[in-house]
Amino acid sequence: MITASTFADALALGFLVYILRRGFTNKRRDNLPPGPNGWPIIGNAFDMPTRYQWRTFAQWGEKWGDIVSVNLFGKHLVILNSFDVADEILDKKSAASSDRTPLPVCGEIMGWNFIVTLQQYGLHLREMRRLIFQTVGTSTGLMELAPDLEHCAHDFLCRVAADPASLTQEVHRFTAASSLKFIYGYTAKKDNDELVKIVEAAMKGFTIGTAPATFLADTFPILTRVPAWFPGAKWKRTAQAWRKDTEAMCDVPYDFAKAQIDSGTAVPSFVASNLGDNVDPQRDALVKDTAASMYAGAADTTVSAIRTFFLAMMCYPEVNKKAQEEIDRVIGPDRLPGIGDREQLPYVSALCWEVLRWKPLGPLGIPHMLSQDDVHRGYLLPKGTVIVANVWNMLRDPRHYSHPEHFNPDRFVRKEGFEPETDPRRMIFGFGRRVCPGSQLAEISLFLICAVSLAAFEISKPVVDGKVVEPSMEYTTGSISHPVEFQCSIKLRSSKAEALLYSASD
Ligand code: HEM
Repeated sequence: MITASTFADALALGFLVYILRRGFTNKRRDNLPPGPNGWPIIGNAFDMPTRYQWRTFAQWGEKWGDIVSVNLFGKHLVILNSFDVADEILDKKSAASSDRTPLPVCGEIMGWNFIVTLQQYGLHLREMRRLIFQTVGTSTGLMELAPDLEHCAHDFLCRVAADPASLTQEVHRFTAASSLKFIYGYTAKKDNDELVKIVEAAMKGFTIGTAPATFLADTFPILTRVPAWFPGAKWKRTAQAWRKDTEAMCDVPYDFAKAQIDSGTAVPSFVASNLGDNVDPQRDALVKDTAASMYAGAADTTVSAIRTFFLAMMCYPEVNKKAQEEIDRVIGPDRLPGIGDREQLPYVSALCWEVLRWKPLGPLGIPHMLSQDDVHRGYLLPKGTVIVANVWNMLRDPRHYSHPEHFNPDRFVRKEGFEPETDPRRMIFGFGRRVCPGSQLAEISLFLICAVSLAAFEISKPVVDGKVVEPSMEYTTGSISHPVEFQCSIKLRSSKAEALLYSASD
């Protein structure tokens, strides 16, 4: 029963809470961008979503505008909800907004500190990015990779045709096998390849370790000093176990490449072309760390994009058909499309951009950190502020995209009297001095798999017992978002396609 005294107590407590909230939060907000009111000391810790953060951030954007700020135990976090502000802060002011926030668990305990993605902006990072760019950032470099990529793509087609239910597994295999080839000169075995397994294990840990709010110790680095045997420190034991996978991923393929170089049997690869004879230990470490960074950058991202392509083709048969018509018209039935055909296939190219826009695989990109104070649109953004670009929201902003939920490649096809919508690559590959150095490789890999799959397969929703099986359309949460497992019907388009596929794979 509610008595007068409990009511008065509740009222008093409520008033105290109100005073505390106002007292602390108004002071904090003086010059900072608006955002949800926080609590003393902990700030907005209770407001922060732990899953699908991009959706909550988008709702905050509706309430507070394109720049929203929150405070986590005294650390400032700013969320950018529109392309315009991301362009202003992350592209145009990139000299001040290109650092990264340290991730003590993933970096120190899991052993990923060496990776490009976690480096602060500076000479070392620039050198690593330069090496990557030389290999996968120029059209000459990419054309050298084309034959190996095409070989891996044909292998992918044959394996999926033989067992369509293994689609997800084969997408992983394609990404691993093609990366191992161009980075280390390693040819993956047909089945149960040891190196493919090593890399998959390491990437599992990496994806979890870089997802926002996975470990409390990333917010309170002092917790990393807790001994692993301590009750409640299971997270540390897990992170330490993952470290072995990280080390194996860096060492095993690299040792293979070096052994090939030493024995004079190396085939062209990133490692072979960047390691001459008698390299000094510093150069050795630079090439090894950059090689593993490329692998980590390519692995999960490409997998998610390719799986979204299959999902889209099931759900939008009219788009599927239009892309096939373009391929049939331009390429004809006597060969499979290749990387060199991209310019001649504008609709298929636009379809790939729409795959990246429709379900962005990195909904929040990778957060940047300010290396100096900034004042933007009258708001103070203090040095050390973590900047999160809500790419998911930007790519469904009606100011840039009509009917954003709809998968429609035509939005990017230039026609008379129609101006294409904003190029999604300006957002999906990140910003400023940290923009993805593998974006061109990502694009040609995605294009290749989409083009050959459209040429060879009929992709549709499966029918079981006379009923169409609808995909859930759900995506996972985390730093890289994947479609949850879905069934897909994949059949060869014709006996001609079948013959073409097996002869290409030979
Ligand atoms: C569709 C596929 C891909 C997408 C959507 C993607 C997206 C991104 C994004 C959003 C970033 C962070 C940019 C920023 O901080 O503003 C990034 C960084 C990076 N990506 Fe990619 N990426 C893809 C494929 C690749 C591939 C194939 C490679 C292989 C070379 C790669 C290598 C990297 C590296 C090394 C970084 C770290 C750059 C840095 O921190 O300076 N990515 N990528």
